[in-house]
Amino acid sequence: MLRTKNCGELNKKNIGEEVALCGWVHRRRDHGGIIFIDLRDRYGLTQIKFDPKINESSWKGGDLLRSEWVVRAKGKVVERPSDMINKKLATGESEIEVSELKIFSKAKTPPFEIDEEKNVEVKEEIRMKYRYLDLRKPDMNEVIQKRHQFIKYTRDYLSNLDFIEIETPILSKSTPEGARDFLVPSRLHPGDFYALPQSPQQYKQLLMLSGMDRYFQIARCFRDEDTRGDRQAEFTQLDLEMSFVEDEDILNLTEDLFTKVIKEIFGDKKILEEPFPRLSHKEAMLKYGIDRPDLRFGLEIKDLTEMVEGCGFKVFGEVVKNKGVVRAICATGASKFSRAQIDELTKFVSDFGAKGLAYIIVKGENEFQSPIIKFLGDDLTKKIAREMNAKTGDIIFFGADKLKIVRDSLGELRNELARRLELIDVKVLAFSFIVDFPLFEEEKKNGHFAPEHHMFTRPKDEDLELLNKDPFKVRSYQYDLVCNGIEVGGGSIRIHDKKTQEKIFDLIGFKEEDKKRFGHFLRAFEYGVPPHGGIAPGIDRLLMVLMNKKSIRDVMAFPKTGDGRDLMMDAPSGVEEKQLKELSIKLKKD
Ligand code: AMO
Ligand code: AMP
Repeated sequence: MLRTKNCGELNKKNIGEEVALCGWVHRRRDHGGIIFIDLRDRYGLTQIKFDPKINESSWKGGDLLRSEWVVRAKGKVVERPSDMINKKLATGESEIEVSELKIFSKAKTPPFEIDEEKNVEVKEEIRMKYRYLDLRKPDMNEVIQKRHQFIKYTRDYLSNLDFIEIETPILSKSTPEGARDFLVPSRLHPGDFYALPQSPQQYKQLLMLSGMDRYFQIARCFRDEDTRGDRQAEFTQLDLEMSFVEDEDILNLTEDLFTKVIKEIFGDKKILEEPFPRLSHKEAMLKYGIDRPDLRFGLEIKDLTEMVEGCGFKVFGEVVKNKGVVRAICATGASKFSRAQIDELTKFVSDFGAKGLAYIIVKGENEFQSPIIKFLGDDLTKKIAREMNAKTGDIIFFGADKLKIVRDSLGELRNELARRLELIDVKVLAFSFIVDFPLFEEEKKNGHFAPEHHMFTRPKDEDLELLNKDPFKVRSYQYDLVCNGIEVGGGSIRIHDKKTQEKIFDLIGFKEEDKKRFGHFLRAFEYGVPPHGGIAPGIDRLLMVLMNKKSIRDVMAFPKTGDGRDLMMDAPSGVEEKQLKELSIKLKKD
């Protein structure tokens, strides 16, 4: 047996035992001839000791050891002197007196420190190129283990509720989630392509038609889009679908699962509100300017359009006349901001299209300071302050423009203010469900209605009539799960009758050839369809939030860089001429 214990399990109870450990040399210290090594494996660190007075030959071996060598150390577990106990280490009360050492392999000096205590900033490209070394770091290691625990808990939870896990094909056909497809050329059918699934959406619906009743999958999804902070071209969903359910059944299940898994595995986190608040899309867009609001703080946006109509401040007056909106945020305690900081915020909102950022500083009761109060007048200023519930020390910031610009700029300003005013508690998880989405996006695309979620989402029963009269007004059974300002999941109740599905295809401008592409789907709808719906939380995004990581890359074992590369494998990369020929592909030469 190579090892009898791992590097994370020895404690006082093991004192006196003969053990064998295997691992990597993490840290090395030389104290007057005695060599101390922290030996590392996935489970932890254990101090091993080479004392020339106790065992000269093993000490000679110990003296050779350098960072990241892989060794086996055999010896006796001894108690550490009380002044040498390391409280930071689970194994810190004991150490091993090495009597026998075997070196399995030596190591070059790694391109960066594995020892996080040394806290050296490493360029991401280097980390990615040597990802296998990066993953040795104890905190990356922990992330990967937590990811496994999360997925295992989820699998068990759903299995206990009669869900079955079913794999669906990767070599498939385009699924309309709105991104670009990755295509795979077929050798056997020259000129034809598979598409990698953007999600298993059609398969899971077809599985409901098969009578599977409750399906889930830890599903790989592929979307050929630019990777950034919370997006990867290849990512993982907890994809699930249920038959004979209504939206509330799916929301309740999702909520119960996440509440439990977080308590079990991310116990340091606090869920702000249970049950998760449900906000209509309309309410979210009004109060937070965005459909994925961060509810860890207040700073709600209020509409003042009616209040300022016809007022003496030209900017507001003109905007209202032109059917725009005037909205405001009361930034609690922001009067400490300097003039320069307010200018920075003005610049900040200009990136989202705002032409300015009018403000009123509340100096005291009915005491205001602002370049615009001379135009607004005393009464209106007081009325606005009352409406905004503004107190001494606050600043009211205004956005006046077309609806979209005001929403975007104040929505982003709200998040920026929370950062600057330090209103965010990183231990808190503020979940919410956004419901009652409009079925279609606000604006047509290429002259046709564009689904807000996807084309299989069912219109609300009470709005069905509007499909013919005013499709923009139709709401749907779509819901998103949001946590701390990030969309961590989305789903819907699906259409289960062919007529409605065809109607949606028409509204989104499907031509005959498009309909043919979905012929298999419509055909299936002729053979008895249960009402069904589902959701797909993004596992990577969720873990990113649960572990306070800035990037989705920090919760994936082998992510792609911002420009879609795997630097470790060097992918994508060229292929041999012969392979292209087999696929009947000829590359265009520039
Ligand atoms: P949707 O497209 O909203 O829905 O995706 C669901 C969730 O997947 C995550 N996600 C991503 N994560 C990382 N990188 C990406 N590029 C990426 N794109 C999406 C998000 C998102 O909320 N088939 C439907 C689900 C359904 O209707 O059941 C779907 O895929 O967290
Ligand atoms: P001005 O009249 O252009 O000097 O603007 C007076 C104040 O109103 C300044 O603080 C501007 O930043 C602000 N302002 C100008 N246009 C807008 C707008 N569309 N929305 C909000 N504030 C604005």
